[in-house]
Amino acid sequence: MAIKFGRPIEMRDAPRRQTERQAPLASPSLDLAVRLRRNRKSEWARRLVRENVLTTDDLIWPMFVVDGHNVRTPVASMPGVDRLTVDQIVRDAERAARLDIPCIALFPFTEPSLRDEQGSEALNPENLVCQSVRAIKKEFPDIGVLCDVALDPFTSHGHDGLIADGRILNDETVAVLVKQALTQAEAGCDVIAPSDMMDGRVAAIREALDDNGFADVQIMSYAAKYASAFYGPFRDAIGSAKTLTGDKRTYQMDSANSDEALREVELDIAEGADMIMVKPGMPYLDIVRRVKDTFAMPTFVYQVSGEYAMIAGAGANGWIDGERAMMESLIGFKRAGADGILTYFAPKAAEKIKAER
Ligand code: PBG
Repeated sequence: MAIKFGRPIEMRDAPRRQTERQAPLASPSLDLAVRLRRNRKSEWARRLVRENVLTTDDLIWPMFVVDGHNVRTPVASMPGVDRLTVDQIVRDAERAARLDIPCIALFPFTEPSLRDEQGSEALNPENLVCQSVRAIKKEFPDIGVLCDVALDPFTSHGHDGLIADGRILNDETVAVLVKQALTQAEAGCDVIAPSDMMDGRVAAIREALDDNGFADVQIMSYAAKYASAFYGPFRDAIGSAKTLTGDKRTYQMDSANSDEALREVELDIAEGADMIMVKPGMPYLDIVRRVKDTFAMPTFVYQVSGEYAMIAGAGANGWIDGERAMMESLIGFKRAGADGILTYFAPKAAEKIKAER
C-alpha cells in the first residue's frame, strides 16, 4: 500500500460519514500547554524539526586487500564484507565514487610467510596497500585514499610495534612508522592515519612528510583509541587474530578513561594532526562529544568491526531490523558530534541514503 505523509493514499478519498457520526472524543484530561508530540505528528513535521542528517559525505569505507587476482573472500565474522584482490579493490573504489563516498581506507591481509618480528613488509613499496593505492589513483584520482599506519598487519606477533623483552618499544617503533608513512605517501596516499598509539608519532610523521615533499598529505590520527574487544573480527580479516600474543593495553587506552582521551587528542593536534578520530564508536559516544566540544576539530569516529558484526549478525538472524539499526547507529554518531564515520556499512548506507532522496 502506498504511504504518503504517514497516511495510506487510498484513505484520502475514503468517506468520512462513519467517523463523523461517532461521538467526539472526551476532552484531554491533562491540561498541558506544551505537548512535544505535536512536532512528531507526521513525517513532514518530523523532517522539518530534524536536527541531524547523515549524507554520503559523512562516510569513509574501510576495505581489506588480499593477494591474488579477481577474488573476493568473505570474512566469516563480518557478514557482507569480503577481502578483495587489488583489481576488485579498484572495482569497489569505483562503486564508492558512484555512491559519492568521499574516501576509502585500506587494510591488508599479509601472507603469513611475509610477516616477521619487525613488520618489514610494511616498508615494501610493492606491498598490497601500496599496490592498491596506485591502482585506485590511476583510475579514480578524485577519490580520497586513507592508509593506516601501524605494524600489526605485518608482524608475526600481531602487535602494532616492535617488541623487546616482551615490551612494545615506543621510539624505535616510531622510527619505523615514519618510514611506513613515507612509503604510503610515495604510493599516492592522501591521508596518513596512524593507528598505533605510540607517543610522539604524529609529530615525527608530520616532520618527515614535510621534509620529503609531502606537505599536502593529511594526517588523521587515531587519537583516542581504546584497547577494545570490538576489534576481534578485524583481526580475523587481516589474519592477526590467531598470532596476536597478549593484548594491546600498554599502548591502547583503558576504556574506563575519558579525561585521558582529551590529553591524547590535544597532543595529536599540537603535533600536527589535521583530523582526529575516536575509536571504537558506539561505546564511546561520550568521548566523541567531549572531543568535539573541547577542540572543535574535524572529528571522526570508527564504527569498528565488532560493532558491524553485532548489527549485521543480529540483522542476518532476524533478531533486529539490521537496516534500521545501521541507520540509527550512524545518525547517533552525527548526533554525538562526529563529522564523519569510518564504517563497513558505508556502501549499504550510501545506497539507502541515495534511494531515499
Ligand atoms: C591496527 C588497527 C586495528 C583496527 C584498525 N587499525 C586493530 C587493532 O588495533 O588491533 C580496528 C578496526 C576494526 O576493528 O574495525 N592498529
